[in-house]
Parts: sequence; C-alpha cells; structure tokens
Amino acid sequence: MREYTTESITDVVIEQMSTTPDPRMKEIMEAAVRHLHAFAREVNLTPGEWIKGIEFMTKVGQMCSPARQEFILLSDTVGLSALVNIMHDKTKMEEATGASLLGPFFRENTPRFDSGAQIAKDLKGGSEVVLYGRITNAQGAPLANAQVTVWQTAADGRYDIQNSIEEIDCRGIFRTDEKGNYLIRTVRPLGYFIPLDGPVGQMVMAQKRHGKRPAHIHFLISAPGYRELVTALYLSGDEHLDDDVVFGASGDLVAEVKANDQASPIKGLPSIHFDFNLARESEADRRAGRVGADPEQVTAGNGQATTPYGAPPPEMLDADKPKKAGILGGLFRGK
Ligand code: BEZ
Ligand code: FE
Repeated sequence: MREYTTESITDVVIEQMSTTPDPRMKEIMEAAVRHLHAFAREVNLTPGEWIKGIEFMTKVGQMCSPARQEFILLSDTVGLSALVNIMHDKTKMEEATGASLLGPFFRENTPRFDSGAQIAKDLKGGSEVVLYGRITNAQGAPLANAQVTVWQTAADGRYDIQNSIEEIDCRGIFRTDEKGNYLIRTVRPLGYFIPLDGPVGQMVMAQKRHGKRPAHIHFLISAPGYRELVTALYLSGDEHLDDDVVFGASGDLVAEVKANDQASPIKGLPSIHFDFNLARESEADRRAGRVGADPEQVTAGNGQATTPYGAPPPEMLDADKPKKAGILGGLFRGK
C-alpha cells in the first residue's frame, strides 16, 4: 500500500487526474490542486479551519439566487475578478479604452431608449446628469449604430435588482448616431456599500474593510467586428477611488461631472463627457466571454420575486461604531 506524506499527496492526486482528456481542464485542475495543497501547507490548515471554510463556501452558494450572485461578489472582494479582467484586457489587439468590472448587477433584461432619453424612472431627490461622447475605433473613426448599455444605482445608492427581480430602473440600451455619438440622461449615482448582509459581507466586516465602491456608471459597448468593451466611469472626487472594495476603479476611467459644459448637447444640466475606443475583435475575443454575468443566467430563474437585499448593517453606516466580527472572524480568535 502507498503511504502519503504532506508532500507526496499532491503528486499522487495530480497523477490520478492525468487521465483527464480535455487538455485545458487538465491544466487548470492540476494547477488548482498544486496551489490549494501549497496553501494548506503554508498556513498549516487545521481541521476546524478547514470545516469553517467549507461552511463559508456553502453559505456563499446558498445566498445565490436569480437576483443575487454571492460567488461573483466573493471573487470581486478578493480581487480575482479584477485580476482576470486585467489579464483579459491585456490580450486586446490594439490600444483602446480599458475594461472594468461587470459586477453582480448587470442584467440582460434592459429596456431600449432613444438617444437623449432619461433612464431613471424617478430622480429620488438626486440630480440629473447628461452622459455624452463618441464611440470610435482605435484609430478614432466613428462607429455608427454601436450599442451602448448603461446601468447604475439610483440616487439612493441601490440597484433595481436589489429591490426586486421585477423592478427595472436606471439601466438602458442606446445606439450611437452616424457620427458615433451617444447621448444619455441619468441621475447622479452614489458611491455605495456592496451587499454586506451575506457571508461575503461578514468576511469584509471581519477584515475591518469599509465595504464601499466609489460612485460609477457601468457601460457595455459593442459593435460588429469589435471587441466588446465592459467598463465603467468613476466620478472624480469620490473618496474611495483609491480603495475600491472590489478593485475596479482606475485612473483612466475617472470622469468629471461638469456644471456648465458648453459642448454638452443638453444645456443647463451637469454633464459627463467621455469618448470610448473599441479594439478590433480577434477570434480569441469571440470565445473569451465576460468576467461576470446576469445572476439569472448563473442560477436559473424561478419566476419568483426575490426579497430586497444589500442594505448595509447599521454598524457599517457609522464607521466610528465598533464592527462585529461575523462568521469568519471567530476563526482566528485565540491565536
Ligand atoms: C458593481 O459595480 O456594481 C459591483 C461590482 C462588484 C461587486 C459589487 C458591486
Ligand atoms: Fe456598480
């Protein structure tokens, strides 16, 4: 009989998996096992910590629904989504606008609007903002009839899907005109807490992180023959541009809200001007997919409304109050 040691167990597992016919699956699973085993050895993982980890991942899965993707949130808060995004962005064929996170609030079910329409059903006390600019190729030639999808929080700092799967608000699909121009009216988004009322929030709070994203507007831009651009504009001046809890904000995507921009097509309203460039699409781009998805596509919808989620726990609303540890916090006590 074979004897396993803390070192030999890794090679034995990899050897047994070596029959995997799909070469990419084989490569990924081998590396995953090597790194998982190295991680357990490095931290000298105890049985109690191992089962805490299993409990945590189980809770993350149980929290997922057609309206909520807790696993994407976990990936976001440990920087995995940002890492995959950065690696993917580097594979562009030409210099073009940088990518940012799709996040867990993108939805396929988005209404189409005519150019210049307002996407917020209710301003909820917020101020109107105009978004305008041009979509061009990497050489600056305009892309007519490009599709520009936007989504963001309402003025109260919440996404529609956090209220109910039936609510559709503050999102829309637009088309560029023959000169590549897009024009959108919206409401100024707020910086917001990511959903902290689940296991990922427990982890973030146990780590004493602030849990906030800077104010931003998501964009998904596509045109035939060009690589789809998933990005976001981050509003200048936000206090969390440099310490975004999900590592999505970057300097090249910071945009200013101007009070009196004479070039804005809609006068008398604050506006954001941003031009986006798309890179040509490669064969690999067509297969690459997105870092994120409509939660309904990940966990099949059951047609039922979901209950509202993501209200930050009261202690997070007041940064001066002591924060509770949560399910992972207890893990490291007494060390
Ligand atoms: C967002 O931008 O909407 C988002 C991204 C990652 C985690 C939570 C929210
Ligand atoms: Fe967002």
